[in-house]
Amino acid sequence: MPQYTPPSLPRPDEAGRSHSERVAAHIRECIEAAGGRIGFAEFMHHALYAPGLGYYVAGAAKFGEAGDFITAPEVSGVFGAVLARQCAETIGELGHGAILEIGAGSGKLAADMLEALEALGALPETYRILEVSADLRERQQDLLAERVPHLVDRVVWLTGLPESHRGVIVANEVLDALPVERFVRRGDGVSRQCVAVSNGDFRWDEEPAGDNLTRAVTSIEAHLGRALPDGFTSEVSLASVNWIADVAASLTDGVVLLFDYGVTRREYYAEDRPEGWLRCHFRHHAHNDPLVLAGIQDITAWVDFTAVAESAGAAGLDIAGFSAQAQFLIAGGLDAVMADFGTLSLEQQLELSQQIKTLTLPGEMGENFKCLALRRGDMSAPSAFALADRTHTL
Ligand SMILES: C[S@@+](CC[C@H](N)C(=O)[O-])C[C@H]1O[C@@H](n2cnc3c(N)ncnc32)[C@H](O)[C@@H]1O
Repeated sequence: MPQYTPPSLPRPDEAGRSHSERVAAHIRECIEAAGGRIGFAEFMHHALYAPGLGYYVAGAAKFGEAGDFITAPEVSGVFGAVLARQCAETIGELGHGAILEIGAGSGKLAADMLEALEALGALPETYRILEVSADLRERQQDLLAERVPHLVDRVVWLTGLPESHRGVIVANEVLDALPVERFVRRGDGVSRQCVAVSNGDFRWDEEPAGDNLTRAVTSIEAHLGRALPDGFTSEVSLASVNWIADVAASLTDGVVLLFDYGVTRREYYAEDRPEGWLRCHFRHHAHNDPLVLAGIQDITAWVDFTAVAESAGAAGLDIAGFSAQAQFLIAGGLDAVMADFGTLSLEQQLELSQQIKTLTLPGEMGENFKCLALRRGDMSAPSAFALADRTHTL
């Protein structure tokens, strides 16, 4: 049965429709096997990562103009060039070390960083890429072989976190792709939002939340110093707690740089945000219905950076800085990266200016996107936080 597509969204093509139907059939089977409903985190996990089917593991275009959304490295090589300077700084302080990029997407950030690090004379011993998607790993290998063929032998692909990593760990837009639970405050209780099936389509359902989710919601309320209002619906990323713990366990010395769209806990659970922070992307249309277009749309949730900082603290990492992406780029070396701007053609100057506006303007990626830096050991804070460090807001 064809899945419902909201009229406000582009209609998927025939191949997209039939792929989505296969993904939906798989999720319906899981729902049936679970007795009629599954938690939203499980639904999101299947839609994005079901083996051979999910959005991130099957072959859809995803990134850039031909895909569904655009990330900072896809907007401009300037993002990777600034990041490279920050990595060089940390690895310089350590004496030696490697870069580990988690969830490398198309591979563009890796190519930009390797080029910039080479130009700086600061190539790391190894550039590790942890990629859970075999399809994306193949694309990354192709892109790097095309862009930086002479540096490919420094790149090592991993399918899990290394036992130990000294240097920098970078993850751009990975936290928002981790499955989240959705909850509703119902009087004295907490409900978990689930997904069930009606006439072949997915629909919301709910059940009393288990201990973990209830504990997470009550600890959010304790932190806020108030109860969430009746009916308040939002997300909690239980998966990110383990993810951060695993990343922290892997980092022996150095810095973790996490970029994502997100806010502090006070903003995340503010009363004027009673329906949460889920965001879906399909062919550059953003909307908030994750139950449609199974497996052919991206499903994300904005990040509660206070929660990430708490998980990091519990896992033994210190906060080295927290700022909006614009400030990170400006303090992190944007001027140095732009040093040869005057030598570019007018057309190139216009194009680059437009890219920088997209990365830095508050209405674009400049303010909603943040960088949280974590460190282990006696490391200096990256210079990218010299302009504005909002750690105190977490
Ligand atoms: C929105 S994409 C971002 C890609 C890329 N970093 C960029 O900025 O263009 C999310 C990426 O996170 C990866 N990912 C999701 N869950 C992951 C996990 N648990 N561990 C490692 N990577 C993960 C996906 O495979 C995908 O490459």
